[in-house]
Amino acid sequence: MCGIIGYVGPRNAQNVLVDALRRMEYRGYDSAGIAVEADDGLVWRKKAGKLTNLEAELAEHPVPESHLGIGHTRWATHGAPTDANAHPHVSADGRVALIHNGIIENFAPLRAELEAQGVAFLSQTDSEVAAQLVAREIAGGAGLADAMRAVSRRLEGAFTLVAIDAHDPDLLVASRRNSPLVMGVGEGEMFVASDVAAFIEFTREAVEMGQDVVVEVRRDGWRGTDFEGNEVEGKPYHVDWDLSAAEKGGYDWFMRKEIYEQPQAVSDTLLGRFDADRQLTLDEIRIAPAELRSIDKIVIVACGTAYYAGLVAKYAIEHWTRVPCEVEIASEFRYRDPIITPRTLVVTISQSGETADTLMAVRHAREQGAKVIAICNTNGSTIPRESDAVIYTHAGPEIGVASTKGFLTQVTACYLLGLYLAQVRGTKFGDEIATIMAELETMPAKIQQVLDGTEDLHALARELHQVPSVLFLGRHVGYPVALEGALKLKEIAYLHAEGFPAGELKHGPIALVEEGIPVFVVVPPQGRDQLHDKVISNIQEVRARGARTIVLVEEGDAEVEPYADKLIRLPKASTLLQPLLATVPLQIFACEVATLLGHDVDQPRNLAKSVTVE
Ligand code: F6R
Repeated sequence: MCGIIGYVGPRNAQNVLVDALRRMEYRGYDSAGIAVEADDGLVWRKKAGKLTNLEAELAEHPVPESHLGIGHTRWATHGAPTDANAHPHVSADGRVALIHNGIIENFAPLRAELEAQGVAFLSQTDSEVAAQLVAREIAGGAGLADAMRAVSRRLEGAFTLVAIDAHDPDLLVASRRNSPLVMGVGEGEMFVASDVAAFIEFTREAVEMGQDVVVEVRRDGWRGTDFEGNEVEGKPYHVDWDLSAAEKGGYDWFMRKEIYEQPQAVSDTLLGRFDADRQLTLDEIRIAPAELRSIDKIVIVACGTAYYAGLVAKYAIEHWTRVPCEVEIASEFRYRDPIITPRTLVVTISQSGETADTLMAVRHAREQGAKVIAICNTNGSTIPRESDAVIYTHAGPEIGVASTKGFLTQVTACYLLGLYLAQVRGTKFGDEIATIMAELETMPAKIQQVLDGTEDLHALARELHQVPSVLFLGRHVGYPVALEGALKLKEIAYLHAEGFPAGELKHGPIALVEEGIPVFVVVPPQGRDQLHDKVISNIQEVRARGARTIVLVEEGDAEVEPYADKLIRLPKASTLLQPLLATVPLQIFACEVATLLGHDVDQPRNLAKSVTVE
C-alpha cells in the first residue's frame, strides 16, 4: 500500500526512481510522483493515475540529472487520486519534499494548527501535514534529521516518511512507525524503499529496521536513531531472489506467472524440513517444545486469502494435534477482547508480513502473554520480526495483487506447522508424520498435472465470462477453497461471486440459484465418512433448480458424472491435502475471465498489495 523509494548515489535519480516505482506499482496505482535535487533547488513531477501517466509527463518535461531523489506510487486514503494529492508533497518555500505511506491519524488537529499559523495547504492528504511540519522545523533552524525526529514524535498512526532538503544534496532521511521500510546498501549508493523489489536490480544487500526509527542515509553509509535521537542498529540480510523473479518472464500477467510457479513454490516451502534424525524442523521456532506442549488453544489470525489458508489449516491442525483451533479475521481480533492466555498459541499468516490488521493482532496477542508464530513470505518484514517464531513460505516475490502462490504455500506451511506440533506433542508418531510428508512431497507434481490440463478452463471462461453471478460450494476443506475461488473472481473479474459451505445452502443461499447460474462444487475424495455423498446430494439440489454445475472431482470418481454439466478432474489426494489441487483451476478460471473482460489482472481496481493501514 503506497510504494516509496529514496535514492542517493552516482546514477541518474530519475531513472532509478521510475524503475523502482514500476516494480512497486502493485502496492498502489492511484497516482505517482518523483522529486529530485537540482542545482537551483528541488524539481518534482506528479500525476494522477497509473505510472505511465507520470512517465509520459517525464518524457515531455524531464527533471534535470540528479543524484538524490524520492518517488512514490499511491493507494489513496485521504483525498481523491488527483495530481495535487499525489506525492511528493513539497513545502511552500520549495525547500522540503516528502513522501508518505500509511495514515496519520491526528492529521486534522495538526493541519488546523498549521493553518492557524498561515500555512496554505495544496492538497487534501494527511501526508502534506508531515511535509509542512518538517518544513516548519527546518525554517526554525533544525537540520532535516532533527526535523524528522521532532515531527515523528508528534504523529499518531502509521507512517513511513522519506524527505529531502534542497540545502543538503547528499542526504535522504526516512522515518518509520508501523509501515514498511527497508534499506538497500550498494557500492557508493543507498536506497530506502517499502520493498526490496524497488532496488533488487542494483543490490541484494538489505538492512531491516525496527519500529520508531529515523535513518539518515548518505551515499557512503547510514545512521539510525530512535525518535529521541538515541542510536539504533539495523539487521543486515541478503535478498536471495534475483531480478527475474520480479519480472513477468514471458507471461501476460504476473498473476498467471505466479499460478504457474506454484509447483516450485510448494516444493521450496517443503524443502529441507527433516533433520538428520528424520525429525521435522521449522525455520525459526524460538519456542521451547515444553511450551508448545502446554498450549491448550490455537488461534489463527489473518486477512483475506491468508485467512482462507487459516481455515484450511484448522481442519488439519485439529485433526493432527487434537488441540482446539479457532480462525479469526485479523481486523476483528483485538476489538472483541479475545480470550488469549499464555497457553494460547497464536498463528498469524501473512504473505507480505506487513498487513496492519495482522500486525496489530500480533501485538495484542503478545500483550496478553501468548506466543506468536508467523507464517510469512517476506524476509525482513515486520510481522515475523515481532513474532516469537516464523515459518517462511519461500514462494519468492508475489507481485500480482491477487494472491495465488502465496495461498498454496501458506496452506503448505500450515500443514508443516500442524505436523510439527503433532510431533512435539506426541499425537502423531514419526512414521505417520513421514507418511503425510511423503504425500505432501508428491503435491508439486500433482499441481503441475492440474496446470498441464487447463485448456478446458479457457473454453469455460469464454462461455461464462459474461454471467452476472457465480457460486462456489464445498464442505470441510473444500469450503475455504470455495471462498478463495469466489474471492479471486470478485477481485480481478469484478463479478459477483459467493462461496458457501455446501450444506449451508439450504438454509438460505439456495434462493440465489436460478436457471443457468454457474455453481462450482469441490467434491472431496471418495471413501471418507459421508462427506463425498453429501456433496453429491448438494450438487443435485442446485442442479434441480436450474444451476449449471461445474464439478471439481478426483480422477476416477464416476459417481458424480450424471450431475455435472462440466467436470474438472483433479489428481488423487487425501482430503486434507486436496485444497492444494482444487484451488488451482479456480485461480486459472478467474485469471482467464478477467483477461477476457479486459481488466488489468495484476492491478485490479481499488486494491493494493500489502495493506498497511487498518
Ligand atoms: C487476495 C489477497 C488478500 C491478502 C490479504 C492479506 O487475493 O491477496 O486478501 O491475502 O490482504 O495479505 P497478507 O497475506 O500480505 O497479510
